[in-house]
Amino acid sequence: MRYFKILLLTLSIINFSCDFQKTNKISESEISSRANEILNMMTLEEKVGQMTQIDQRFLDTITDLSTYHIGSLLSGGGSHPDVNEPQAWLDMYNKYQSEALKSRLGIPLVYGIDAVHGHNNVYGAVIFPHNIGLGATNNPELVHKVSEITSIEVAATGIDWTFAPCLSSPEDYRWGRTYEGFSSDPSLVANLGAAAVSGYQSVANMNGKKVIACAKHFVGDGNTEYGTGMNGLVDRGNTVLTIDELKEKLLPKYQEAIDADVQTIMASYNSWNGVKCHGSRELLTDILKDEMGFTGFVISDWQGIDEIPGDYKSDIEISINAGIDMVMVSGQGQPYKKFIKLLKENVEEGLIPMSRIDDAVSRILKVKIRNGLMDNPLVSNENLTLIGSAEHRSVGRQAVRESVVVLKDDNILPLSKDLQTLVVAGKGADNLGMQCGGWSIEWQGGQGDITVGTTILDGIKKTVSESTEIIYSEDGSDVVPNPDNIAVVVIGEDPYTEWFGDKENLDLNNDDISLIKSLKDKGFKVAVLLISGRPLNVADHIDQWDAFAAIWLPGTEGDGVSDILFGDFISKGKLSFPWPINTEDGSNAQKDNLLFDIGYGL
Ligand code: BGC
Ligand code: BGC
Repeated sequence: MRYFKILLLTLSIINFSCDFQKTNKISESEISSRANEILNMMTLEEKVGQMTQIDQRFLDTITDLSTYHIGSLLSGGGSHPDVNEPQAWLDMYNKYQSEALKSRLGIPLVYGIDAVHGHNNVYGAVIFPHNIGLGATNNPELVHKVSEITSIEVAATGIDWTFAPCLSSPEDYRWGRTYEGFSSDPSLVANLGAAAVSGYQSVANMNGKKVIACAKHFVGDGNTEYGTGMNGLVDRGNTVLTIDELKEKLLPKYQEAIDADVQTIMASYNSWNGVKCHGSRELLTDILKDEMGFTGFVISDWQGIDEIPGDYKSDIEISINAGIDMVMVSGQGQPYKKFIKLLKENVEEGLIPMSRIDDAVSRILKVKIRNGLMDNPLVSNENLTLIGSAEHRSVGRQAVRESVVVLKDDNILPLSKDLQTLVVAGKGADNLGMQCGGWSIEWQGGQGDITVGTTILDGIKKTVSESTEIIYSEDGSDVVPNPDNIAVVVIGEDPYTEWFGDKENLDLNNDDISLIKSLKDKGFKVAVLLISGRPLNVADHIDQWDAFAAIWLPGTEGDGVSDILFGDFISKGKLSFPWPINTEDGSNAQKDNLLFDIGYGL
């Protein structure tokens, strides 16, 4: 009898896995019935496994993937294979996927990563400007293209899912994640966000599956009150808005992403009126799923449920009942085996209804079916050469030149390509890591040659005529006056990610200020290029500068900056955030405190 059951089960598995071979372009009703078919065969353990996401770094042993029927893995920032090169990423993906396929039902993993400005964890991938720069292009076609290329590079390594786009509309620049938002203006974010979603999800027929996007962080991540966040600052703080304000200001961005068919949405670390978003049934179920009609699945943020008041078991109960469908347990804090045990206990004790579990799992399965993952779990290496290709880099370069916002020019731009000498100085001039900012190879980014790319100095050298002598000096100390007396000075912020970038004060570095002063004292005209993830306090200095451009966090294609400097392209970038006189005077919305308004750019 027992053997007979097993035989029957095996037959039905083979049966549905054959069915999955033809799942491309199947109708929604067919997707639902297939998801139901699988769901009906699943044990509670298997359902709990589907709802569990672990960072591959924190897997105790690879066989846990099949033993616990794990539904998803991620690579958090910097979570790369031992050797960071594309083939190793692909091998890592196939290794984990093959293990997951050994589980009783053989449901494939959906593998997620923060490809937030290109496939930015992968050595050699093209790294695009962070969203603040893309916002300055105000070019939805370009954002679509950039997102599509990102997905092509993601898919080439096998990965299924990018945790992007970020739909924040940041208001307080002291927030370390300001650069992840396209604009402080929610309508611009909505427009570019929808373009990004459709770009990311447009990549089909690579290994037979589509990359899935993730709109994040739902909701109010960029609107927290100063002083309420981590370390008494901004990140993960409290957003205070009435329900009407929320609906008017922040929800349309998500509605457009849903209308663009976004498959997943990530809950936000912040609170809304004192309640953690991860535990808010009103937000995640009543509003997002019921009112707004979101049919994909909701993923929690990294250990995000852990921040709900109460012990871990109640964190799980509250968050799943609130509407989280898959938990980014990560395994860095709470062990994932503990999560699995406690989620099961919650169900067995009736604290989480089985109907909620079934809803969550069916949402996850439907996404996996809809995107072709069930048919094509394993991938070949035939697309690896697309990573960091010349064609992709040229789109990166275009994005950079369209993102540069020229804010001042006392008739020194464009620079001539035929100067006798040109001084290039500043910490950011020959520094790929600084150009890329956070979320680049490592979670917090890095300094110097972190990956393959063109620094701003390299771009300048490629552009000027052969007779021009480039005098590069990082700190400017050895520079002496010369016939042309023109200097390009690249200053700005060191890389940071999340709350590491929260700051009380956004003044320029003293080193940058004294470098510029020393060049001015020597009689140079200076064109200041600012690498930054947000507007900084430049009002006290800008009078001494001859030209000034915000170049944001341009990524690996630094020649896009020289395209503007030397006039090969006319600058088009416009501020997508107002630039205050003093960034510490609170919200950027204060119109009487502006150095440059949103939309400004020469
Ligand atoms: C961030 C998310 C990110 C996740 C996975 C979190 O700390 O808030 O934006 O997607 O980590 O790396
Ligand atoms: C991960 C990141 C994540 C962060 C959150 C890091 O270890 O690599 O992706 O966002 O932790 O705390």
